[in-house]
Amino acid sequence: MALLETRYLGQTLANPLVASASPLTRELVSVRELEDAGVSAVVVQSFFQEEISYLGVQRGRSKELDPYGGELSFFPEPLPGSFGPEEHIERVQRICESVQIPVIASVNGTTGGAWLEYTSALESVGVAAIELNIHSVPADPEVSATQVEQELLAAVRQVRAEVSVPLSVKLSPFYSALAHLCRSLVDAGADGLVLFNRFYQPDLDLRTFKVSLNLQLSDSWELRLPLRWIAILRDVLSCHFAATTGIQSSSDVLKLIAAGADVTMLCSVLMNEGPAKVGRLLQGLETWLDQNGYESLNDLRAVASQRHCSNPAAFERANYMRMIRPA
Ligand SMILES: Cc1cc2nc3c(=O)[nH]c(=O)nc-3n(C[C@H](O)[C@H](O)[C@H](O)COP(=O)(O)O)c2cc1C
Repeated sequence: MALLETRYLGQTLANPLVASASPLTRELVSVRELEDAGVSAVVVQSFFQEEISYLGVQRGRSKELDPYGGELSFFPEPLPGSFGPEEHIERVQRICESVQIPVIASVNGTTGGAWLEYTSALESVGVAAIELNIHSVPADPEVSATQVEQELLAAVRQVRAEVSVPLSVKLSPFYSALAHLCRSLVDAGADGLVLFNRFYQPDLDLRTFKVSLNLQLSDSWELRLPLRWIAILRDVLSCHFAATTGIQSSSDVLKLIAAGADVTMLCSVLMNEGPAKVGRLLQGLETWLDQNGYESLNDLRAVASQRHCSNPAAFERANYMRMIRPA
């Protein structure tokens, strides 16, 4: 039977299937179900900057903590099910104490700042690593790409200074010079990159002209973006790579490992099919590796990464041309 072990953020994991941040990783009871089903690590659902900010406003610390400059008008009251920082940290602690698999804490916000001080409290309750997810829509034409990137890098440096556990950055694909930014993130102290954050683009209701929020879970075709970028970056950056978005089947996992991913993160597939899917995915990995003569997942890792292509930019361009102008 092929070995599925992998290394990620200082941990040896039993297999590459990690539960990414979602409602399934919010409560101890569902985290336990995921552990029993076979995931090798779990990212607890994020602690959001807005949750801290709301509390900060109530406690008179609005200027320090509010990402919207003291005006939390889009958050007149806490989001349903919001925790205060203390309660969130206690929950993470209970999860860390109750499961055997590594637990990664996630913090999710739009800017760096005082709220990120909470990462050291998360570290103190025994998390294996911190995943940082900083993203906003830069809708102001006065704000340049450089400014957006500098803010992100400052947040990474800030968390790096706060904690000593490994740090990963969950990143959006919407940056103009992604490879350069990724290298800068690693230079700023990121030990891992989680590619890519998935956005829930709102729709417009034609009857009311109001934004309609309807959650669409992902499909396999969406993994092509992380697949491409992990293959491009794997051999040029010294960091771990986690793939997220679109992973539904064992073939999806195998493709991403072949591109160079260290772990593959699952969310939509678990929400659609439940934790029992993990066992079927693991079985699929073992069967494929055995049938194709691989003794371990490590033997497959990065066999299709960029080092097998001397000029990735030209390769991408040629494929693009072939796709839109087939012979
Ligand atoms: C309902 C829901 C809640 C999520 N919550 C978080 C979160 O708290 N923090 C985060 O970084 N990502 C969050 N995500 C994103 C997932 O972790 C994952 O990156 C994304 O869904 C893409 O993976 P998938 O294609 O397997 O769904 C959430 C996704 C869903 C569907």
